[in-house]
Amino acid sequence: MGMFKVLVSEILEETDHIKSFKLVRADGRGFDPYPAGAHIDIVGPTQVVRQYSLCSPPYDLDAYVVAVKREPESRGGSAALHDRLEVGSELEISAPRNLMQVAGSADRHVLVAAGIGVTPMISMAYQLQREGKPFELHYFARSRELAAFTDLLEERCGFGEKVRFHFGIPRDGQPAVLREILGGLTGASHVYTCGPEGFMDRVLSLAGPVLGEDNVHIEHFQAGEPADTSGDAAFEVELDSGEVFEIPADRSIVEVLQENGVPVDTSCKEGICGTCVMGVLEGEPEHRDNCLSASEKKANDQIATCVSRARSARLMLELF
Ligand code: FES
Repeated sequence: MGMFKVLVSEILEETDHIKSFKLVRADGRGFDPYPAGAHIDIVGPTQVVRQYSLCSPPYDLDAYVVAVKREPESRGGSAALHDRLEVGSELEISAPRNLMQVAGSADRHVLVAAGIGVTPMISMAYQLQREGKPFELHYFARSRELAAFTDLLEERCGFGEKVRFHFGIPRDGQPAVLREILGGLTGASHVYTCGPEGFMDRVLSLAGPVLGEDNVHIEHFQAGEPADTSGDAAFEVELDSGEVFEIPADRSIVEVLQENGVPVDTSCKEGICGTCVMGVLEGEPEHRDNCLSASEKKANDQIATCVSRARSARLMLELF
């Protein structure tokens, strides 16, 4: 995976627990164009690698902005970024990758975020605003004090009434609010959601039946529930080069390929970032990831090799 050096050029305390970091290229050049909703890998001061969504305007190629929430259980990831970075610190980052993108055409784009999940939505809202497309951004947070980027969203970004805040809605009150938000959607509408898993499940369960799962776009920050591995068995992977590898019941595809010198990139190793995805030429995968969409899983022509396995005795794979 291509990595490059950046410098921290600005740090803002968005809330007590969230800081935003503006990053510029260390070589003074601009960044390459990328689609809204992308995320990058950041190698932190303790060499821990984490993925963060870009929340700056995707057409501003002078700088990236990421927002980092200090996780209470952090042992070197978000805590190290909060405590050890200062303006001028150097970091290594990857090029942006996209798992969630703005749909090409829609009669309405509805962005629904909870908590720190608002970050990719801000970038997507910037793009929709610039293209003059109909959108609204709904932001759920426990309170105004805990919500990041309220000033930006209310004033500086120019989204106006397209931004609606939903503060302090208890979990059992969320379905009613979501039903109201999603009312009037058609099969040509697209909904995008990012936040805690339970929140995204609620959005999917309400929007999916109206729009179809392909029109509900989800950005996961966490791996899904651990798979039941008790029935796992060995299977074979054949590469398009003709090499064949046995994948034992207790090893992942990517582990076996990497130790045999096959250059598969990885990042999260939990099925959320999409870095290790390979093409499936033959055989049937058993998908266990949170990075491929429902329709991509149904198509069975890609596999996240860090977590997913095979239903068939052999998979033929190709490197992307
Ligand atoms: S390495 Fe992130 S999905 Fe496999």
